Amino acid sequence: MTAEAYIPPRPTLSKLRAAAAECKACDLWKIGTQTVFGEGPAKAVVMFIGEQPGDKEDLAGRPFVGPAGALFDKALEEAGIDREAVYVTNVVKHFKWEPRGKRRIHKKPNGEEITACRPWLDSEIRLVKPRAIVCLGATAAQALFGSKFRVSTQRGQRVLSDLAEYVTATVHPSSILRAPSDEARHEERARFVEDLKRIRKAVL
Ligand code: URA
Ligand code: SF4
Repeated sequence: MTAEAYIPPRPTLSKLRAAAAECKACDLWKIGTQTVFGEGPAKAVVMFIGEQPGDKEDLAGRPFVGPAGALFDKALEEAGIDREAVYVTNVVKHFKWEPRGKRRIHKKPNGEEITACRPWLDSEIRLVKPRAIVCLGATAAQALFGSKFRVSTQRGQRVLSDLAEYVTATVHPSSILRAPSDEARHEERARFVEDLKRIRKAVL
């Protein structure tokens, strides 16, 4: 089963968002608070695609509003990209987690969940028609470019794809938060901002 059955005829972004709120195409709706749909202008030039909402996003119902989102916002600003002008979404629209004490710990979505949720993302891409698509992290990059894609070696490079004019991937902002030392974090963050600047120069 995939979300295809839930896609409304002649969709608009707001119709899609409303339909996605009712999606039960995989089991993740049972543990998430709500569907976290993409957000941004209908004619955004750049679309960023993350993995799935985190704890804060699940509660707020909005993508990238937690710690990774805060880092992402600041990095965009440093790169000269207005967050309000970009469309931000995820390959999977529900938060997958397991309990650890009182905390909800992020769990990677599996192939079945990614496949089930894909029609939402495909519809978002079809409607927004961004000139640039940027995958944040391996889950999004491998979902779009195939399992052989390696963010570690291919980040920042242009990917040949018919999804958009300029298609690329970089690291996920939460990987920067997990860097083993302040120095590594600083370095990783700077590389991330460089990747974002390259995108701005290419299409904005
Ligand atoms: N990580 C993601 O991949 N997406 C979000 O929306 C938040 C954190
Ligand atoms: Fe539907 Fe995606 Fe949520 Fe699964 S994760 S229930 S496919 S919106």
